[in-house]
Amino acid sequence: MAALIIVIGSGTMGRGIAEVALGRGFRVHLVDPEEAQRALAQRSIESGISRSLARGLLGEDAARGWAQRLTLGPDWRGLSPKWVIEAIPERMELKGPLFAQLDQDFSEAVWLASNTSSIAITAIQGMARRFPHRVGGLHFFNPVPRMALVEVIAGMATAPQFIEESQALVRQWGKVPVAVPDRPGFLVNRVARPYYLESLRMVDEGVVGMEACDKVFEGAGFPMGPFRLMDLVGIDVNFAVTQSVFEQTFYDSRYRPHDLQQNKIRLGHLGRKTKRGFYVYE
Ligand code: NAI
Repeated sequence: MAALIIVIGSGTMGRGIAEVALGRGFRVHLVDPEEAQRALAQRSIESGISRSLARGLLGEDAARGWAQRLTLGPDWRGLSPKWVIEAIPERMELKGPLFAQLDQDFSEAVWLASNTSSIAITAIQGMARRFPHRVGGLHFFNPVPRMALVEVIAGMATAPQFIEESQALVRQWGKVPVAVPDRPGFLVNRVARPYYLESLRMVDEGVVGMEACDKVFEGAGFPMGPFRLMDLVGIDVNFAVTQSVFEQTFYDSRYRPHDLQQNKIRLGHLGRKTKRGFYVYE
């Protein structure tokens, strides 16, 4: 029988990871306390897999029967997975207790991975005191079905076998794993912070308009300008990552978060997922 992956959090990333695993023949149990989120995730996975099949991006054989290999629920009671991949909001006060619980609930043989964008893997594994060595980072990119890169991160206590097994796993999913160090923002998010932050400052200072800024970068070959990309990522998610990198670098001013983002969040304009962010989506 195909290996079981438990994905925790059925938002933007969790549903993407689930879709990719299902499309490659794995069994997936998707956990989310919000029933409405689970229903949305199920629909999104269905349309994602149909789209990938239509475009010839998935083998018919591997994807066949995916719907029977997917279960969804508010918890993981009674299940024996090979992997647990966490994709809940970027807040240590949520991820910490979750990993403490997972560490209690699963045997040592189960690998526990976090899809965190910026929280130190060593901090997360510090919450899994029984078997910290089976905890590591698997950082997928958005949209998961389309983005090949996966950053694989070892915390201070992560077993080398985690790196080997996780690289083998994501390769089976058609992804390209790259081992990166457990430093604030890992690699991509550290380098990407100034891309967003400098653009926010320039627009705020009236140096350039938002659309013009996006156009410049897209014209230069970036797939998306910074504002369109923040809307895709989720302005709340992007802001949380910036805050986390800022705090973990002991408040290095290069990573200081920006008001413009915070005010969007206050208004509930979070990007595509709320149909309104820097742009309006109908
Ligand atoms: P999201 O806000 O779209 O989804 C989070 C989901 O987690 C929601 O459905 C929520 O109901 C659920 N949730 C909250 N608490 C939970 C709990 N205790 N147990 C189970 N489910 C819970 O967030 P998104 O964007 O999917 O981000 C998830 C993680 O992935 C974050 O750590 C984020 O930094 C990271 N990430 C996000 C990327 C992006 O572009 N959005 C890219 C790469 C990583």
